Amino acid sequence: MADIDSPDTEKPTASFGFAPVREEVKQGLVNEVFAKVARSYDLMNDLMSGGLHRLWKNDLVSWLAPPKSAVPYALLDVAGGTGDVALRVLQAAGQGASAVICDISAEMMEVGRARAENEGQRLAFVRGNAEALPFARANFDAYTIAFGMRNLTYMEAALAEAFRVMKPGGRFLCLEFSSVEVPLLDTLYDAYSFNAIPVLGGLVAGDSASYRYLVESIRRFPDQKTFTRMIENAGFERVRYRNLTGGIAAIHSAWRL
Ligand SMILES: C[S@@+](CC[C@H](N)C(=O)[O-])C[C@H]1O[C@@H](n2cnc3c(N)ncnc32)[C@H](O)[C@@H]1O
Repeated sequence: MADIDSPDTEKPTASFGFAPVREEVKQGLVNEVFAKVARSYDLMNDLMSGGLHRLWKNDLVSWLAPPKSAVPYALLDVAGGTGDVALRVLQAAGQGASAVICDISAEMMEVGRARAENEGQRLAFVRGNAEALPFARANFDAYTIAFGMRNLTYMEAALAEAFRVMKPGGRFLCLEFSSVEVPLLDTLYDAYSFNAIPVLGGLVAGDSASYRYLVESIRRFPDQKTFTRMIENAGFERVRYRNLTGGIAAIHSAWRL
């Protein structure tokens, strides 16, 4: 991983895991992480979460409840990476559904393209930044983002972009690691994630530093209520959240009305 510059005190800072970095360098560091982990990403997700991420993604799809009919239904899966969420939504939805995965990492989407061969016409991959989406306004019936939000430098800009590209009546769902709300589970979870995950990353992906970043970035993410307010501030309505596994992860749901 590249050296992290000490931030210039005059300039606004972002956080790269626990390290403060200048805003303009954060995205480059995040991109390095995902370029490195792309090939082992799906395996590591299973190993790190003991398969829980699959259940959480299934919860997201159930809450989204895409139409089973042939009515046209356009999903945008931002930070969609290797395609886990978009592929699940297409499986659950009817023939009218199509999905676009928009991710900043060519390496992650390359792995996704190989996995998605059978989806042909229904799935497209577009390289782009969540903070400045390359789509016209009011384009999509649903916007999903799973484990992507905490990697962004400007979350408010990404939420504003989500609002812009969604059709009125559209649904927003964000799945992200969150704040554990069960006593003792938080201590156990901290011990596991700070010790075991970087070691696992070193063994399986040959890269413990990237996995240390992933764990640290989880702790920097706003808690459930703070993130609810951020979504409301972007103009969304009926914002709700559900904790998963005691708050290790949470799904936030909102509507663009
Ligand atoms: C932890 S992965 C999540 C992938 C997938 N959504 C999943 O749940 O398996 C985070 C993804 O966010 C992407 N990402 C990071 N910064 C981004 C940005 N500014 N715009 C779009 N995607 C971004 C990364 O390239 C990576 O694919």
